[in-house]
Amino acid sequence: MRRVCITGGAGFIGSTLADRLSTDGVQVVVVDDFSTGRHEFVAELLERPGTRLVEGDVLDQALLEEAIAGCDWVFHLQANADVRRGPDHPGRDLEQNTIATSTVLEAMRAVGTSRIAFSSTGSVYGEPNVFPTPEDAPFPLQSSLYGASKLAAEGMIGAYAHAYGFTGVVFRFVSILGERYTHGHVSDFFHALKADPTRLRVLGDGRQEKSYLYVQDCISAMCTAVAAHESDAGSTQVYNLGTDETIVVDESIAVITRHMGVSPTIEHTGGRRAWPGDSPLIHLDCARMRALGWAPKLTIEQSIIVTLDWLEANAYAMSERAGLR
Ligand SMILES: NC(=O)c1ccc[n+]([C@@H]2O[C@H](COP(=O)([O-])OP(=O)(O)OC[C@H]3O[C@@H](n4cnc5c(N)ncnc54)[C@H](O)[C@@H]3O)[C@@H](O)[C@H]2O)c1
Repeated sequence: MRRVCITGGAGFIGSTLADRLSTDGVQVVVVDDFSTGRHEFVAELLERPGTRLVEGDVLDQALLEEAIAGCDWVFHLQANADVRRGPDHPGRDLEQNTIATSTVLEAMRAVGTSRIAFSSTGSVYGEPNVFPTPEDAPFPLQSSLYGASKLAAEGMIGAYAHAYGFTGVVFRFVSILGERYTHGHVSDFFHALKADPTRLRVLGDGRQEKSYLYVQDCISAMCTAVAAHESDAGSTQVYNLGTDETIVVDESIAVITRHMGVSPTIEHTGGRRAWPGDSPLIHLDCARMRALGWAPKLTIEQSIIVTLDWLEANAYAMSERAGLR
C-alpha cells in the first residue's frame, strides 16, 4: 500500500487511521467537509510530506475523482454517524451513507482504483437472535435508518466486486471509544455530569447491553484485514470488529461516575430501547477477525477511561458538539 484516500479523514476514526497509515509511510489523501470532522485532528498530519487535504463534499464526484486518482485503496469512512437522530431527518442516512457510497464507487471506477475498505456497523444486525452475532447471522428486518443505509452501501460494494472486479473489505464496528471521540454515550454523560454532577438522565432502562472497542484496536484490525486482502480482486470480505466483552449501560455509568469522582442521582427514562433503532443487546462474534491474528489490547473499561481522560484534556472538541449536522 503506497497511497490511500480516506473519506471522512478528519473525523474521529478517519483521522486516527490517517495518522497510523502516515506513520507507517503511506501517503494519505484526506477528503472531508468538516461537518463533524475537526481541523485540529488533521493539523499535524497535514504537515507531513505526502499528505494532502481535499476539502469538500463526497457527493461531488469530480472532487472525489481528483482525490482518489493514483490511490491503491479508498478507506470510505465518511458518513452521517448520528444513529439516534435518523428519524428526525429521514433522507439524510440515504443521502450521506448510501448515495455517498455509490458516488465513491463511481469515482473509483472512473479513475481505476478498485480496492475499498468500508466502515459499516453492527447496527445492520438490527435486533438479532444469535449472540455473539457472527457475520453470517440471518438478517432480521432493519430497525434503524442508519443500519439500513449502511447495509445498502455494503450491498453496492459487493455488487461492484462482482461487476467490476473491485476488492471490498467491510467492517461492522461496535461503538468505538478513545482519543478524538466526539459523539456517543460517554461524551453525552461526561458533558451532562460536567454541567450538573448531582443528577444524570439516562435514556431507556439502563439495562441495554453494549459492546465497545478502543479506536487504536479498531485501526489495527482494519490495517490487518486490508493487508490480508490486498490481492483479492472480485471479492468482498466482511469482518465484525468488537471485543468479546459487553457492558450494561448502568455499569458504564458506574465506571464514568467513579472516574469523574461524582455521585449523581440516576434518572432512567424507561423502556428497553433508548431511542427508535437502539438495539438492547449488541455483542458481535469477532472470531473471523481474530483468525487473522488480531486481538484488542484494551478492555471496555480501559477504553471508557481513556475516552474520559481525552475529553477532560480536550475541551475544544466539544465547543461545537459533533454529530449535529
Ligand atoms: N464511532 C463509532 O462508534 C462508529 C461505529 C460504527 C460505525 N462507525 C462508522 O465509522 C465511520 C467514522 O465514524 P466516526 O465516528 O469517525 O464519525 P465522524 O462523524 O467523526 O466522522 C465522519 C467524517 O465524515 C465527514 N463527512 C461527513 N459527511 C461528509 C460529506 N458529505 N462529505 C465530506 N465529508 C463528510 C465528517 O466531517 C467527519 O469528519 C462512519 O462511517 C461511521 O458510520 C462509527
